[in-house]
Order: sequence, then structure tokens, then C-alpha cells
Amino acid sequence: MAPSFDFKPQSGINGSSKAVPVVDSLSQIYSVSDIPHQQQRWQRLRDKFAELYPGEEISFIARSPGRVNLIGEHIDYSLFDVLPMAIAQDVLIAVHVGSADNKLRLANTSPRFPIKEFAIEALQEINIDSSVLEWTNYFLSGIKGAFAVSGNVQIPSMHCLIDGSVPTGGGLSSSAAFVSASLLSVVAAVKSAASAPLTAAITKADLVSAAIIAERNVGVNSGGMDQAASVFGVAGHALRVQFAPELKPIEVAFRGDTFAFVIANTLVVADKQVTGPIHYNLRVVETTLSAEIMAKVCCLGKLPVRDGFGGTWRGVYDKFAEQNIDMDGIISRTKQVFDKEEGYTLSEAALLMEMSEAEIKQKYMSRFPVRFERLQFRKRAIHVLEEAKRVEKFCSILDLTELDDEDYYSALGQIMKDSHESCKSLYECSCDELNQITSLAIKSGAYGSRLTGAGWGGSTISLVSKDRVSSLVQTLKDEYYCKRWPKLSEAELKEAICITEPGLGSVIFA
Ligand code: ATP
Ligand code: GLA
Ligand code: MG
Repeated sequence: MAPSFDFKPQSGINGSSKAVPVVDSLSQIYSVSDIPHQQQRWQRLRDKFAELYPGEEISFIARSPGRVNLIGEHIDYSLFDVLPMAIAQDVLIAVHVGSADNKLRLANTSPRFPIKEFAIEALQEINIDSSVLEWTNYFLSGIKGAFAVSGNVQIPSMHCLIDGSVPTGGGLSSSAAFVSASLLSVVAAVKSAASAPLTAAITKADLVSAAIIAERNVGVNSGGMDQAASVFGVAGHALRVQFAPELKPIEVAFRGDTFAFVIANTLVVADKQVTGPIHYNLRVVETTLSAEIMAKVCCLGKLPVRDGFGGTWRGVYDKFAEQNIDMDGIISRTKQVFDKEEGYTLSEAALLMEMSEAEIKQKYMSRFPVRFERLQFRKRAIHVLEEAKRVEKFCSILDLTELDDEDYYSALGQIMKDSHESCKSLYECSCDELNQITSLAIKSGAYGSRLTGAGWGGSTISLVSKDRVSSLVQTLKDEYYCKRWPKLSEAELKEAICITEPGLGSVIFA
């Protein structure tokens, strides 16, 4: 059997072995300036819960945030380090445990997501149809994750109301926020039904590793960045998330307070479950197969397997490192191995893999189906390797003390610009709207700007000096939002652009 990387986090790293905290006030979750708005939002949630489930008390509220990724795009499933941070926008799940009807009821404050109920006994064997986009599948994935952590425990009846402030399909990982909060709500409900303390519901490390595997049940072969950022998030810090040899969050701080991160949502919705076969899941196949071909051609031996799926570029990197070949050496060899700029047909890939086409389809394309004419091994591999290098460089600049502030932010900004260019031309996960917003941001003086998250729509992140934030926001309003989305209300516009700070990860409110 091939060796494998697993997602078990190193215990004790930055509190990852600690339990998900239980809090009892909003000031333990949000920044001071956000509290008045959150108080109103949480009150609306409570009012709606009372209306929906009369006479039932909220036993607890499970909460997990979205994230924004600063650098390291589409390299988490190749097991290279990434640098996200949790944001204030989150998913809240208010739960009443133990009503007599023996049902799981899932209601949502947004009318886009209709109420659904399940008999509890039907949930011991969950089959998720990953071929359809169904919002409750994300909750059911959370239940599967809870089973993975606690064994097939008996779930008590749960009446839930979900409220999400992370835009869906907006590149800020509403999906991981929802799956992580769902998993957390199920383990907390089990504790609550047994009158056990919620303070020991689950460790952060277990929540992350189970949520990573669980989210794939919705039909997207995603990496682990989103769940790690959502659960491990630390206020005031970005997280360098390491995946190999073990999952490990490392807190990272930025110098000074003269800069801001501005998130601007293109408002082009990118549902990854829907476009998976031609976008996300296809990229995972292209990077996996290219890594395995590279290992074969360069006689590197068997690569460790990621979660039962296949080899990774991190595995390739580690093998070359044993021969003292560095990243630049690997990149130039990769260009020699994958010399067909136009890409590879399935039959060409099969020859290189020394497998039949049917075997490749069965092994790499059956659980997460894909559609393609040519597999773009060269472009995707170069992006992955260079993006991994950019994360290293970004983190090394964060540690530099000799640069003055202007040079420090400009150097970080340049890496963000390079990352966007690579996502656009090599990884082909950008779109016109993302390109337009990032260009406008640079024109208005941002140090750097790039797409964040999976791409193909969703959001951008720009690093900008505080004194230029208002002119950047005005430019985006005038040149992008008013022209591209002329019917947008003031409230929608306010939600589309936000200045963000690193926030706290998952909590149980009780
Ligand atoms: P990215 O993965 O690029 O960062 P994302 O996570 O927002 O962005 P998807 O992974 O495509 O995008 O997940 C979006 C899906 O998650 C939605 O279509 C919906 O099914 C589900 N979802 C997320 N938040 C909620 C919510 N608050 N209520 C109901 N469903 C939600
Ligand atoms: C999505 C996935 C992540 C990651 C990003 C791209 O958000 O869920 O695992 O791959 O896309 O960096
Ligand atoms: Mg997602």
C-alpha cells in the first residue's frame, strides 16, 4: 500500500488540541465596533426561532466563520502551506435539543433555503446525493463528520435555525463555515442530550480534520484550508496552515496598523458543487495526475496519497528535496516533463500513467466526475509550484525587520499581484469581473490585489494603505458596482465591500 498523508493535526500546536471554546457573550466573539450590529442580528435569530419553534428554548448556538485567503490559492489539496484568516462573517446554528417529535428540522433565516425535516432514525445511515446542489446536504455532511469523530452515536432530536452572513459562492467559504458549524452543533447536541458539559464537546483539531473529510460529501473534492481557518481562527492573526507532514496552524502577524485588507465581492456567484466537473474537481484531477506522472517520469518512487485520492505535488517536492533539488530545480524539470503547452488528451495521460483510460476514469474521475478535452498538466503544475514559493516568500517578508513600511507592504502586494496573474493565466480560475476589480484596486493605489478562494467569481482581497481605503472604495463603487450591478441597493453595496480583520474561529455560545 502507498504511504499516505493524513489530516490528523499535531496535538498541542497553538491550542489545536484544546476544545472548541464555549462563550456566553458576543464580546468574546466579535470586535467592539461590530457588536451593535451583531446584537441586532442575534436578536433577529432568537425572535425567528421563537416564532418557528414556539415554547422551545435555544439550547446553544454553534458558530463558525468564513475565511479570506491572503496567499496560496489552489495549493491546499497539493498539501502546500496557505495563509488564510478567519473573518467576522459567519454561520450561526441555533439549536433546541430533545423535542418529542424525534426529528431533525433545518430552517434557514434566508428564504432561498426552504425548511426540511428528517426522521432521526433515518439519519443513522446517511446517503448524500452529491450530484445535486441541496443546501441541507452541507448539514448532513456535518452529521457524517460527527459520526467520524464520535462513532455512530445516537443523535437526539434537533430543531435548528441557521443564519449565515458569509455570502454563498462568494469565495469566502460559506460552505466550510456551514459544515463546521453543523458538525459542531451535532456533537454539542449529543453532549447536551446526555447532560454532559459542552466545554468538552470536541477539540478544534478533531473538528477541523473531520470537517475537511465531511465536506467532500457534497461533491467537491476540496482541500483543508477553509475548515482550518474557520475553526482555528485567532483574532488579530492570519494563520499559516501547514498540511504536510501534519496539519498545523501557525499564527502570523502583520506589522503596524497603517494598512487594511479590503474584500470586494464581484457578486458573480460561483457554486463549486455545480461547476465542479469543469472547474474545481477538474483542477484536483489535473494536479493529482500531473504529480503522479512527474513521480513516474523522474523515478521518484511511490508518492504519499492524500485522503485515499492520489499523489500530490508536495509529495513530489519532498522526494526531490531528499536529492537536494530545490523548488527552482523542480520547476525547470516540470517544464521539461510537461512540454505540451496545448495539454494532454486522456489517452496521452493514460500512456504516461501506464494505466488504461478506463482505469484512470475509475480511479480519479468516478467519485468526483469531470469533463474535459485536454488535461492542462503544465500550466496547473507550474502554478502550484510557483504559488507555494510565493507563500514562502510572503511569510519570509513578514519576518523581515530591515524593510521600511512602504517597501514591506509593496513587497507583499507584489506577491499578491503575481498570484492573481498566475490564477488568471495558468490556473484559469479567474473571470472578467475578478480581473476588473483587482485592476481597479491597483489603479487606486492598493499595494496588491487578487482573487481569493476558489475563484471563477466570488471575491477579491486587496492590501491597501489606510489613507487610500476610501478612494479605493469609491472607485470600485463608481467603476464596478454602479456599472456592472446598477440595481444594487445601498445595503447590498455595503455588504459587497468590507474592510476585514482577522477574527476568532468556531465557538459554542451557551
Ligand atoms: P469558496 O469555497 O470559493 O470559498 P463558498 O464556500 O461560499 O466559496 P461553495 O463552496 O460553492 O462556495 O458553497 C456554497 C454553498 O454552501 C451554497 O450553495 C449553499 O448550498 C451552502 N451554504 C453556505 N452557507 C449557507 C447558509 N448560510 N445557508 C444555507 N446554505 C449555505
Ligand atoms: C476552495 C476550497 C479550498 C481551496 C480554495 C482554493 O475554497 O474549499 O480547499 O482549495 O478553494 O484555494
Ligand atoms: Mg466553499
